[in-house]
Amino acid sequence: MSTIKSEMQEAEARSKNDPLHLIDVDHIRFNVGNAKQAAHFYASCFGFNITQASDLTTGARREAQYLITQGNIRLLLCSGLSSTEGSCEHVRRFGDGVKDIAFTVFDAEKAWEQAIRNGGESAYDPRSYSDDTGRITMAGIKTYGEVVHSFVSREDGYAIPRIKDGGRFAPGFSHRTSELNTFNDANPCGLKYVDHCVGNVEEGKMDQWVDWYDQVMDFSLFKHFDDQDISTEHSALMSKVMASGNHLIKMPINEPADGLRKSQIEEYLDWHDQTPGVQHLAFRTDDELHSVAELRGRGVDFLRIPDEYYEGVWDRVGMIEEDQQRVKDLGILVDRDEEGYLLQLFTMPLQDRPTLFFEIICRRGSQSFGKGNFKALFEALEIEQNRRGNL
Ligand code: FE2
Repeated sequence: MSTIKSEMQEAEARSKNDPLHLIDVDHIRFNVGNAKQAAHFYASCFGFNITQASDLTTGARREAQYLITQGNIRLLLCSGLSSTEGSCEHVRRFGDGVKDIAFTVFDAEKAWEQAIRNGGESAYDPRSYSDDTGRITMAGIKTYGEVVHSFVSREDGYAIPRIKDGGRFAPGFSHRTSELNTFNDANPCGLKYVDHCVGNVEEGKMDQWVDWYDQVMDFSLFKHFDDQDISTEHSALMSKVMASGNHLIKMPINEPADGLRKSQIEEYLDWHDQTPGVQHLAFRTDDELHSVAELRGRGVDFLRIPDEYYEGVWDRVGMIEEDQQRVKDLGILVDRDEEGYLLQLFTMPLQDRPTLFFEIICRRGSQSFGKGNFKALFEALEIEQNRRGNL
């Protein structure tokens, strides 16, 4: 109990400088065609434990929801149980993807009211759910495309430290066990928390969404890249990174820039009903080599990094504590800035459409996003785009 109290005090101190008092990334909601099967994919390939679910067997009639967890990452995989459900329409238009990046706050209603006063548009009004365990209040605002930011406040047995300790996620959820969980506990992938969530928006719209995060969410500009930084012979993009007041969460926003051929952002929009959405989620690990080796062993397909990349990389990056040969063997990207270095790697799209993918990132001092890798990376991405007939 005292640990929970001190954890909440710590969270309070952490969120003090953040006008909306964001405590944590509560969960990220995916709308998917088949939550039961998706849960197995993310459990077997990425090492998430299938910990809880709400479905017909627990009394849910409209939607099946699976909570899968790893470290402090909570993904909520949701499938509508009838064609009239909004999540079914979302899947019809976009395929599987991210619907909601939800933040834990002290008071969901207050945070939502503040965001509306700041110029945000409501996605849904505050609503509370309670049972013997405790109470949860949620309210949502609309961000780019069809994506929502929910504010979630949790009381008593549903407080976030309890959830981290394995407590029930919300009323209507029940615990699940799986042999896959036992395997994952014995063979961890080492993913700890959400480092950043990247959104793709239409050409010319990046600054509008940067302003939105500034005004509505009280975020501020963290880093700025322009198309000089992020371009190849063929295509380009522009990106700005917005960060919450306490840097709990970083939200880079990309837009396509002019290039000779189709950019990766345009490809995303083409397969996402010309609608902005979440392009990738970056998960933090303390040991990039271990995580990537484990994920590769489980069959995760990562972006193929051309051999040529490693010819120049050590001159650019200098000494690192990881074994350079293993970095190359595992096909990992490395970058350095004035604060330190980082290791990163991107998965291939997680579904048939070239839309959402994951990044596995390890920071050794560097707080940037791998700017030095952009050119090498995009050339690799274009090889894949070309294979899909989309360049
Ligand atoms: Fe990223």
